[in-house]
Amino acid sequence: MQSDLRKKLLETFHEANGEFVSGQNLADIMGCTRTAVWKHIEELRKDGYDIEAVRKKGYRINKSPDKLSGNSILLGLETKEIGKNISYHESLASTQKLAHKLADSGAEEGTLVIADEQTQGKGRLLRTWHSAKTGIWMSLILRPRIPMQQAPQLTLLAAVAIVQAIEDTTSIFPTIKWPNDILINGKKVTGILTEMQAEADRIHSVIIGIGINVNQSLEDFPDDIKETATSLALEEGEPISRTSVIQSFLKHFEILYTLFLKEGFKPIKLLWESYAVSLGKEIKASTLTGVLYGKAIGITDDGVLLLKDSLGEIHSIYSADIEI
Ligand code: BTN
Repeated sequence: MQSDLRKKLLETFHEANGEFVSGQNLADIMGCTRTAVWKHIEELRKDGYDIEAVRKKGYRINKSPDKLSGNSILLGLETKEIGKNISYHESLASTQKLAHKLADSGAEEGTLVIADEQTQGKGRLLRTWHSAKTGIWMSLILRPRIPMQQAPQLTLLAAVAIVQAIEDTTSIFPTIKWPNDILINGKKVTGILTEMQAEADRIHSVIIGIGINVNQSLEDFPDDIKETATSLALEEGEPISRTSVIQSFLKHFEILYTLFLKEGFKPIKLLWESYAVSLGKEIKASTLTGVLYGKAIGITDDGVLLLKDSLGEIHSIYSADIEI
């Protein structure tokens, strides 16, 4: 089926808001015959759409498939800029890699690279990121006009937007472990990897890579992370629509990003702190130069974690693995 006709059909159903649309109406809107409409409906059904047909009433969509595509994300997306340009792929080595390439060749602010599967997903600290087919693997390209040292704040902003999206689309209340792990019942459901392209002190682009475990079952995780990882579906007890989580994330991200560009990090920091689990607790911080123990007493305006050791000395932690 031609993709613009299919988009038109889906848009019409979307605007109908769950009500029936008659075959004749669909034919008029699409500029084709009713038989052609019926053929297009059959194609959509093959793609996993549950479309009800009732004589004298017409058609309505009861359920959309959890199949990702640029069109399904754009349909119903409530943002002005963020996520309006989508580069969707069934399989990629890493969305992060492609996002860097697109940013190099001038991709606009808010461009989203998304893949159903990554074969070489990248995690923090040079780790690999397991990215089988049922998760959300995406990289967002930003071009903020901010001083370079503020770029890490965008990671914390993204974490807040993800928590809000999970709260919107499930009945789960996740927490954040500094700097950017999102946890449910102490297990990791999301990781964020922020990378920057800059020259002298000018930011060309910030690429925020986000991995969310959505519909994995326990067997889908490799043995080494089975104990520590979880998915939204495992916690909710039912499958979750990836499209809804992405749309909600993009909406919350745009609201927070606009606020950040206008008012700075303060309001974002307050929200981040309200979701943080590590603050006020005794933690172990494994940094590249060694291990530190102490109380996490807060984060600075640059998103740096402050740890007070048993001698009362305060350490600034820029990058580490935290255990609570
Ligand atoms: C972490 O180690 O916690 C960060 C994981 C980030 C994974 C995401 S998935 C989408 C994007 N593409 C990648 O290769 N990595 C990031």
